Amino acid sequence: SDTEKGTYSHFMLKEIDEQPFVIRNIIQKYQDESGDIKLDENIRAAINDTDRIYIIAAGTSYHAGLVGKEMLEKVAKKPVEVHIASEFLYNEPLLSSNPLFIFISQSGETADSRGVLVNAKKNGYRSITITNVPGSTLSREADFTLHTYAGPEIAVASTKAYTAQMAVFSILAMDSARAQEIQTDFNAIQELSLIANAMEVLCDQKDVMEQIARDYLLETRNCFFIGRSMDYSVVQEGALKLKEISYIQAEGFAGGELKHGTIALIEDGTPVIAVTTQKATNLNIRGNVREVEARGANACIISTEDTKQDGDRIVLPTINELMTPLVSVIPLQLISYYAALHRGCDVDKPRNLAKSVTVE
Ligand code: G6P
Repeated sequence: SDTEKGTYSHFMLKEIDEQPFVIRNIIQKYQDESGDIKLDENIRAAINDTDRIYIIAAGTSYHAGLVGKEMLEKVAKKPVEVHIASEFLYNEPLLSSNPLFIFISQSGETADSRGVLVNAKKNGYRSITITNVPGSTLSREADFTLHTYAGPEIAVASTKAYTAQMAVFSILAMDSARAQEIQTDFNAIQELSLIANAMEVLCDQKDVMEQIARDYLLETRNCFFIGRSMDYSVVQEGALKLKEISYIQAEGFAGGELKHGTIALIEDGTPVIAVTTQKATNLNIRGNVREVEARGANACIISTEDTKQDGDRIVLPTINELMTPLVSVIPLQLISYYAALHRGCDVDKPRNLAKSVTVE
């Protein structure tokens, strides 16, 4: 059942493996009989009417928001800002004249996000909550709810909720483009079914991910992740996963920003995991990899069929460039899992962390 581990040693591994099914489930839930996107008219209208969307979230959900912004801006041409809930709460940015708030929360109970929602409601602003728990506080208090249909997520480190949140954003972006009659060849449903297949391929390569964890992460005290554009979003999530469960000090950086400070930390043997899925920045990020390697770093490159070069450790199947985080995060989740496992950490219940944080 959903709340039992079955043959799995940890909920986290079970939940990583569930991702292809979650994506297929989302496709079904958001599709009508004729294969069109099925979405609440009121949500469509709220997105259509707003002049600027404010995405508010914490932790992994914030990282999904970074990707959601790109989808909404590039596909639906809607301006979007993404904010950390606890920052927004005490330092509200200048808002547009007709803002729409989108809260992303796996649990729907995060106090920092709720604080922002309470204020938004006081001011009469419209709100949507994207959550895995309909009926949760953020779901009840927002005007509308979009369900991520990921099933119960038990492991403290979020995996399937993150990919589900991004999948829902892709549907929202495509629906909004259609509603505005924007010409686009972005077909979220088609992309999501390719993604589910790609996830399955990667989940079948656990031995590869385990070997990477062994080669790079068993002894180290730190690890850097680098990427650009969509890959910068996903490496921030990769670094969060690794620190949450393995206690390795990890940071996700924009590849081009390394030379402005962080490269000082590179020593002989420092692991650097680089994600390169975007054709436009493939050569730049490879340049960054050469810079860190010249200073002794031990680099591990994750690329795609379109960006690959000899020596890359993982080559992902080709998918739409806006959607790559849904696929590139799978190896990052699995590498973190095996690093934590072999370092003897409590994978499902890491120290100092709670599944949902209901205090500010
Ligand atoms: C906690 C969890 C994180 C999660 C964050 C936001 O810190 O440990 O895994 O990403 O809360 O939770 P939410 O339920 O709002 O997505």
